[in-house]
Amino acid sequence: MAFLASCDHVFFGVIAFIISASIVLVSTKGMSKPITLPPGPPGWPLVGNFFQVARSGKSFFQYVVDMHQKYGPIFTLKMGTRIMIFVCSADLVHEALIEKAQVFASRPAETPTRTIFSCDKFTVNSAVYGSVWRSLRRNMVQGMLSTTRLKEFRNVRVSAMDKLIERIRVEAKANDGVVWVLKNARFAVFCILLSMCFGVEMDEKTIEKIDDLHKTVLITLNARLDDYLPILSPFFSKQRKRVTEVREEQLKTLVPFIKKRKSALANPGSDPTAATFAYLDTLFDLTVEGRKSAPTDTELVTLCSELLNGGTDTTATGLEWAIARIIDNPDIQSKLYNEIKSTVGDRKVDEKDIEKMEYLNAFTKELLRKHPPTYFSLTHAVTQPAKLGGYDIPTNANVEIYLPTISEDPKLWSKPDVFDPERFLSGKEEADITGNKEIKMIPFGAGRRICPGLGMAMIHVNLMVAKMVQEFEWSAIPTQSKIDFSEKLEFTTVMKNTLQAVAKPRT
Ligand code: HEM
Repeated sequence: MAFLASCDHVFFGVIAFIISASIVLVSTKGMSKPITLPPGPPGWPLVGNFFQVARSGKSFFQYVVDMHQKYGPIFTLKMGTRIMIFVCSADLVHEALIEKAQVFASRPAETPTRTIFSCDKFTVNSAVYGSVWRSLRRNMVQGMLSTTRLKEFRNVRVSAMDKLIERIRVEAKANDGVVWVLKNARFAVFCILLSMCFGVEMDEKTIEKIDDLHKTVLITLNARLDDYLPILSPFFSKQRKRVTEVREEQLKTLVPFIKKRKSALANPGSDPTAATFAYLDTLFDLTVEGRKSAPTDTELVTLCSELLNGGTDTTATGLEWAIARIIDNPDIQSKLYNEIKSTVGDRKVDEKDIEKMEYLNAFTKELLRKHPPTYFSLTHAVTQPAKLGGYDIPTNANVEIYLPTISEDPKLWSKPDVFDPERFLSGKEEADITGNKEIKMIPFGAGRRICPGLGMAMIHVNLMVAKMVQEFEWSAIPTQSKIDFSEKLEFTTVMKNTLQAVAKPRT
């Protein structure tokens, strides 16, 4: 959606005119039984509300908030050929993801670009609800993200945390104490996930190269105008060529690591740096219901990239908002630091300490309430025509769940605008982040498609906050008197002004 803001309005105007003129020729006769979609702004034929959104001058989520105020908790936007249904209330999310969980558990059709990168929906996040999804998800959850498995990767986290602290220390020393928060947090999580995926050692240069490639892939996956208006695809041949190039580059870079891991497994002891276990090991011989053969190398790249994509920017975004909140409220920083001190004394904080830290856990929960790293859950679709809030939901609709209207609903929260970790202490307020007991805040989604990385993400966020606060005292850079909490939509919802902060080593 980010591209909408930069659209050339004149270009759109001309295109819109041509398209609208042609629409007149396309009559509505022959349409099947009328359905009652949720309300929404009237749009133009064929292009729907596309130009209203593009020309509003607002960020996409601001537009969604405006529509929510105007049309209520469920509304429709027609974006070119896509019907997008927005769901913004806890009751309706409960109806969709819990009461009608199975029906709302699918994913919509992919864009042509995403089809290439997902190997035609051969990933956990993109697969339609069915046997492929079940096989891939079961493998990811049981083979990789279970509590036992997560414990096995403890050393990987220890090493990544040491690297993180060292990088911040070096950067701070070279820049009068000033560091970029998001970039460093991203790097640390990326190191962990790369190691978990490929199980082979990589130097910092290689990690940075893969990280750059990973960012290029994410940019390439951004929606384009012709994804909404396929009629315009002849104008996008250059972009399509670029997609193929990026995909080739991705395969060229990552397939050698797959081969290296295969060889390490086939010749035990041949590579002393090889880890005892990696996500790839679960995938080499994976049996997927309805398929005869194991995943190809291309599919393995896709499945590993999914783990990297799912866990990197989401977690790092959480860290950026966390440090911003810590700087904004020194009292919070003191409470976090004092709790760490009283729990671990002078030794380094370890992930085993985290469950004992009540305030840290309350802080992280409040962080995910106030700043869910993705404002929209991944797009859902229904497996068969369904009803939601009394409206019709057709199978070709994208169902978009907007998280902040739930986690900041004044009917569910006291003073929802205020960032206050204390709300979760001594039972003042409660919320089940899995959404199983109630829908009040669901930063990881809810129901069948709930984020399988929830457990790992909570370890990573808690651990990084604890480490960063134990090692450094955080404050605003001298030119910034107040933290600006405005946000912008990138791959996740990051701070509009990327956070720079002063990190003063405590020792
Ligand atoms: C703070 C960090 C994270 C946040 C906020 C987050 C959030 C989400 C959300 C909102 C969804 C969509 C749920 C839905 O469709 O209803 C999701 C799905 C997913 N996440 Fe995460 N996630 C995080 C970390 C991770 C990690 C660490 C991994 C893996 C290592 C991961 C892997 C996935 C996958 C594979 C899916 C697709 C699940 C499916 O379609 O069945 N995420 N995540």
